[in-house]
Amino acid sequence: MTHSLTIRRPDDWHLHLRDGAMLKGVLPESARHFARAIIMPNLVPPVVTGAQAAAYRDRILSALPEGMRFEPLMTLYLTEGTDPDDVAAAHASGLVKAVKLYPAGATTNSHGGVRDLAKVTAVLERMAEIGLPLCVHGEVTTHEVDIFDREAVFIDTVLDPLRRRIPGLRVVMEHITTEEGVAYARSGGDTLGATITTHHLIINRNHILVGGIKPHYYCLPVAKREKHRLALRQAATSGEARFFLGTDSAPHVDALKEHSCGCAGCFTATNTMQLLAHVFEAEGALDRLEAFTSLNGPRFYRLPPNEGTITLTRGAPAVWPEKILTEAGPVTVFDPGFPVHWHVEA
Ligand code: NCD
Ligand code: ZN
Repeated sequence: MTHSLTIRRPDDWHLHLRDGAMLKGVLPESARHFARAIIMPNLVPPVVTGAQAAAYRDRILSALPEGMRFEPLMTLYLTEGTDPDDVAAAHASGLVKAVKLYPAGATTNSHGGVRDLAKVTAVLERMAEIGLPLCVHGEVTTHEVDIFDREAVFIDTVLDPLRRRIPGLRVVMEHITTEEGVAYARSGGDTLGATITTHHLIINRNHILVGGIKPHYYCLPVAKREKHRLALRQAATSGEARFFLGTDSAPHVDALKEHSCGCAGCFTATNTMQLLAHVFEAEGALDRLEAFTSLNGPRFYRLPPNEGTITLTRGAPAVWPEKILTEAGPVTVFDPGFPVHWHVEA
């Protein structure tokens, strides 16, 4: 049995850091293990322009505790008013690494997202020209479509037609949750990648709903049936370059999770690496953990992998705080529901 594993320092290719007191409270949880992260722009108001992304990047760097290093990779929130020249300039300056498409109404703070894709064609064509990736929240928002089918319907009715219209566009399918998502990611060439979260490798929809409703397991896209979780585990541990880690760690204070209309999001920044070591060990794939967390993402984003390393060791049951006590309020850390024996060495 492997007791110690040293891998290149990981990156998180889909992270919510929020702003203000929440940012200050959760940033160290990511910076402890991760060198870089793609920072989601769904603030209130959203990060739409290059100038807003530059200001948000500065706020993140000022919230970083002394002695910690972390590189935020900024994204822009695509709206029907987004200016292609502003996007191109923010990319050319090195500030912005991706643009995020939220179908309007799909998830937290997405009401300013895109309703009609035809209205963003000029931006998307420009992105294809300059090689700037589009990160896609892949769910339709039509009321007639069942929430468990929204990803598969999005792929057929929105994503595939879009990729046929603009074949050069580089796309990341964010937080895929279904076997259809895995299959579609595999059908694309090197212009298509997919992130997979930690929690979707661990929970299925029973974890949310059986034996009482568990608000801390509710996120979007919502966890699906067991067969989908198994497909995600197979994909993540396959070593295939198109699949990489995007935790989608999405902090909300407990008061808003444990609520009659609870917010969507699982907070996994604190224990993702320990949990992934557990999952990859269970799948007999510890030798492919580094590809998933540290190599495949940089390759897709055309960045060098990190020079530094982290060491994971197997030992006594791991412990982490049950909650992160931010000045905005307590945030519950994702509980996998089973003991984990992996530690990240300081
Ligand atoms: C995210 C959030 O809270 O910002 N929530 C979530 O459940 N993942 C938004 C998102 O990525 O959908
Ligand atoms: Zn997200």
